[in-house]
Amino acid sequence: MSVSIRRVAVLGAGTMGHGIAEVFAMAGFEVRLMDISDEILKNALSRIRDSLERLGKRGELREGVNSIMARVTTTTNLAAAVSDVDLLVEAVPENAELKRRVFREADEHAPPHAIFASNTSTIPITELSEATNRESRFIGMHFMNPPPLMKLVEVVRGRYTSDETVNTVVQLVKALGKEPVVVSRDVPGFIVNRVLFRVILEACREVNQEGVKVVDLDAMARNVLGLPMGPFELLDYIGLDTSLFIVKSMIERGFKAHPCPLLEDLVNRGRLGVKSAEGFYKYPAPGQYSRPRMMPDQGLDLDPVRLMAPAINELAWLIREGVATVDDVDKAVKLGLNYPWGLSDFADEAGIDNIVDALNNLREVSGWGEYEPDQLLLDYVKSGRLGRRVGRGFRDYPEVEERRLEEIVLRIDPPAAWIVLNKPDKLNTLTPRMADEIVNALRTVEEDPRVRVVVITGSGRAFSAGADVNQFRGASPMQMFKAMRHYHSMTLEIEYYTKPVIAALNGYTLGGGLELAMACDLRIASDDVVIGQPEVNLGLIPGAGGTQRLTRLAGPGVSKEMILMGIQIGARRALEYGVVNRVVPRHTLEYEVRRWVNELASKPPLALMLAKYAINYGAESPIWSALNNEASLFGVAISTKDAQEGVGAFLEKRRPRFTGE
Ligand code: COA
Repeated sequence: MSVSIRRVAVLGAGTMGHGIAEVFAMAGFEVRLMDISDEILKNALSRIRDSLERLGKRGELREGVNSIMARVTTTTNLAAAVSDVDLLVEAVPENAELKRRVFREADEHAPPHAIFASNTSTIPITELSEATNRESRFIGMHFMNPPPLMKLVEVVRGRYTSDETVNTVVQLVKALGKEPVVVSRDVPGFIVNRVLFRVILEACREVNQEGVKVVDLDAMARNVLGLPMGPFELLDYIGLDTSLFIVKSMIERGFKAHPCPLLEDLVNRGRLGVKSAEGFYKYPAPGQYSRPRMMPDQGLDLDPVRLMAPAINELAWLIREGVATVDDVDKAVKLGLNYPWGLSDFADEAGIDNIVDALNNLREVSGWGEYEPDQLLLDYVKSGRLGRRVGRGFRDYPEVEERRLEEIVLRIDPPAAWIVLNKPDKLNTLTPRMADEIVNALRTVEEDPRVRVVVITGSGRAFSAGADVNQFRGASPMQMFKAMRHYHSMTLEIEYYTKPVIAALNGYTLGGGLELAMACDLRIASDDVVIGQPEVNLGLIPGAGGTQRLTRLAGPGVSKEMILMGIQIGARRALEYGVVNRVVPRHTLEYEVRRWVNELASKPPLALMLAKYAINYGAESPIWSALNNEASLFGVAISTKDAQEGVGAFLEKRRPRFTGE
């Protein structure tokens, strides 16, 4: 560190100030904590002591509470607080005039070399720095609440901040045991609040404009996205007045967004969240948090990609404007918001073209300009950087391996292998050759331990529009009998396959396309699919299992309705008939399929295989034979290492580690 920092003043001993003082003291710095009354300071010291004692009990302190406390002194005199410090961290209330006054006065009394840092979340660093004569040694240090527990510190560069000051503060943050991210311009909301409020404001819009239920949206955030809290839970936790203040200041200072009337309304009614025992949810008493209850399957019908798309747009903006790097934005959301993944991971998995579609859709339904896709996203799509699917997006994925065959593409993208039917101009019409290629692709990855699930999907606007009708003209009965063998080999291969196979239906799924899909274990469809067995319209009947598998899936009534009338049905009816398991918006299909893949890949693979066999065999057998088979396979399952691990982990209350043995 070019300026060695030993003595630190923390101005303001409130929620953030006392926590920041505690962090510095724990890391060995001498801290002078200043506020306007002895009462506030006394209270702050006892809160620091309480917090240290809690950390001590959890074994997280390297020394005794008393020796840490001995490094914290207090004063109500600003001049005395800053007279010999190397660094000052300001954490007084979020009032620009007050902050400027404090900095102006501190500037007169602090040594010239001292660095001034503000913990503001809403006021531009440049503006505050102008109240002093040390603009180059002025910086933002934005701690997350509560400072002792949250790892992230946003280090915010004002217009005049020198590189040396940035470097010193970055090193300092590391010395505090925290993780810095550098925000290269003091844009309203920096990184964390910009991303957070993109999600929150979209959540609000869905509730306001579309009548989505608050609790369903939060449940989706937890159950589908895996976030620690939903947007409304988090608002209650932060405090609705505080949140409203932050978002209003951001919007006033140029953050392009529509405010959330729900928030305003609750604040006006005095419902401030956990602190007033009621916000979006009710709590047992003021200040007493209890986690709102949600069902594990709640919110599954809401769209995760649409909720996150505005945040991805923000990521693109932050990068394109040179405010932060992809790595830093990812780090900020993981450490500042406790997201289990970075925004770039999400975008690349969902597909950047799909994010753009979702934003266009949002722009249309809301009429709001802030949903306009950022130029960076459009450039990515144009240059084919579509995400994981193609091996590059916000990041590169050298591990994605692609093999192009005549009529399909085999993409190995662990833990899945994707079989992409690849004759988009012909709507991926099925031929005996394509069937053989599918069988070969399945065999290629069957022994590959990286591959835990196979996904079959189509390129372009169809899954598959059925068997290539050309092959039927003038064909002899014997030729057709033999041709069908290829299709039956394919469907039986899938049913006998030792790994789960998901069909991702991305458009027309007709005739042989539907017969292929029905042989798969699970079917996820985009909301624009068209599904049918239209063979009778050609004077034919389904020949690759349609009369049998559709009947088994949907019952003879539906099967006859669809096959005899040769009708085509949409997604909603397909779901109702049980022909597909799930329907999602087109732009969410890839994300949802990957989510199912990851879910399946987290399970013990041998148990999946045995369960699949028990179901498939049982569907074709009298129940005594089927139950006997199930019992035998149960016996096989119990003989695996994974079964002993799963049972052991449950009884020992730990997470199982499956090895596939
Ligand atoms: N066999 C052979 N070619 C097919 C085909 C099939 N089953 N399905 C689509 N194609 C071809 C079309 O002939 C066309 O080729 P072309 O560009 O050389 O003329 C191309 O794929 C695109 O299809 P098109 O019909 O132009 O698209 P569309 O959007 O107007 O219509 C469908 C889409 C799916 C409604 C229509 O293609 C269709 O009815 N296909 C046949 C479905 C069927 O009966 N399947 C069961 C066969 S047993």
